[in-house]
Amino acid sequence: MFVRQQKGLTFDDVLLVPRRSSIRSRGDVDVSTWLTRQLRLAIPVLSANMDTVTEWRMAVSMARSGGLGVLHRFMTVEQQARQVARVKRAQGLMVENPYTIAAQATIAQAEKLMDQHDVGGLIVVDEQNRLVGLITRRDILLAPEALQQVAQVMTPADHIVSAAPSVTSAEARAILYEHRLEKLPVVDREGAVVGLITSRDVVRVEQHLPASTDSRGRLLVGAAIGVGSAELARAEALLEAGADLLVLDIAHGHADHCIDMVKMVRQNFPSAQIVAGNVATAEGARDLAEAGADAIKVGIGPGSICTTRIVTGFGVPQLTAIQDAVQGLQEAGLTIPVIADGGIKTSGDMVKALAAGASVVMIGGLFAGCEEAPGSPVLRDGQKVKVVRGMASLGAAIGRRAAEKTDDESAEEQEDWDKVVPEGVEAVVPYRGEVAEILHQLVGGLRSGLSYGGAHTLEELQRTAEFIEITSAGVRESGSHDVRRI
Ligand code: XMP
Repeated sequence: MFVRQQKGLTFDDVLLVPRRSSIRSRGDVDVSTWLTRQLRLAIPVLSANMDTVTEWRMAVSMARSGGLGVLHRFMTVEQQARQVARVKRAQGLMVENPYTIAAQATIAQAEKLMDQHDVGGLIVVDEQNRLVGLITRRDILLAPEALQQVAQVMTPADHIVSAAPSVTSAEARAILYEHRLEKLPVVDREGAVVGLITSRDVVRVEQHLPASTDSRGRLLVGAAIGVGSAELARAEALLEAGADLLVLDIAHGHADHCIDMVKMVRQNFPSAQIVAGNVATAEGARDLAEAGADAIKVGIGPGSICTTRIVTGFGVPQLTAIQDAVQGLQEAGLTIPVIADGGIKTSGDMVKALAAGASVVMIGGLFAGCEEAPGSPVLRDGQKVKVVRGMASLGAAIGRRAAEKTDDESAEEQEDWDKVVPEGVEAVVPYRGEVAEILHQLVGGLRSGLSYGGAHTLEELQRTAEFIEITSAGVRESGSHDVRRI
């Protein structure tokens, strides 16, 4: 038997020691970071690839706030690729290839298409994709029942103001304002529709929010894949749909089949940005980096809904796991970012994870109560709550099986659920409103943390951070105590 002469520490075991600081305001610090070798984020936060945390809505909000969402993989390849495309279409000055419909289509078809794509209007085009009209929900809502065809209710082309592809955001704003419009189709010289600008997009671009965008102004999005040759097809479809990042998501990432998968993805898609994990050791991080990963995800069992450590006895307390992975990479000269995945309960935990060497944190449970997380809130004991579940929980396994079931398989077919050995639980978390509000608190705490550490950047924090181990009395003293919370 071998027992490591190293104490495994996690966030609550330590505090950061304050340092002399020249920072006068939280605004004086820069919290931007590298997510991978090539992708940079304005804030160091990812939403987790869990089916109760990140689908397209969460990914859009995360990227708009300067972070990034990783779409979970427990859906068909087509569904996941469609979700990627949805995020990529959500922002930019111009939506490329907007949804269109033919003038001969029925109003019911137009309504269905709008519902399907969750949009408020469609551009009506002819066979050559030339602008014929515009139909919005308002047109349909007010249309007399006798009218059946799109052509009968749409605003015809000669009443539509359009713009050329070279239009700038200032010009688009002026046109939209002058004509009191919400939508401005973009049409090329031949009259073909190439895009759509909405008043909301113009405002967003002008606000210069620290959104995470690609070179074309579209939001960044990540998507998870599993291992196995079938998953290569998933990777290909996701990249084709515009995914900026592939996250190879395996519970025990330090495994031969995971290392082989990283190599295969790297070989097949040389320019893809690949995150690989999860690991909790220096060797694990090194092996995945050597196989070709652009960032390493660290965390075996720290998550809010994880029971891996209880079920298997394996894991490394998260702060030590982060430090070991970062050090292991540095010693091997493989300086790629580390993502601290799991166990973040507060902004203080995030500051500690970053100070320990992580470049980014991934958050699940804390975001599962957000409006943008999949699922609706329900009332429990008078409180609004949402459901969160571990991806290795029994509920997630049942959900996956239901999604995979073909029509041929009988609904009554008995499943052997007793054979599942879950490594995660299902739970409820308080409803927390929009994720932007939580990010505001988290990033506010981080900025304040940097000022206590006298660090202007995350790199400086990592260079100078000094942790102090605390006792259970220290933990008690650290929270509010001996008062009755209101
Ligand atoms: P938090 O603490 O932010 O952690 O909720 C999110 C991370 O937890 C991991 N995860 C799991 N780990 N069993 C586990 O052992 C599970 O069922 C499970 N589901 C998610 C995952 O790394 C996620 O990002």
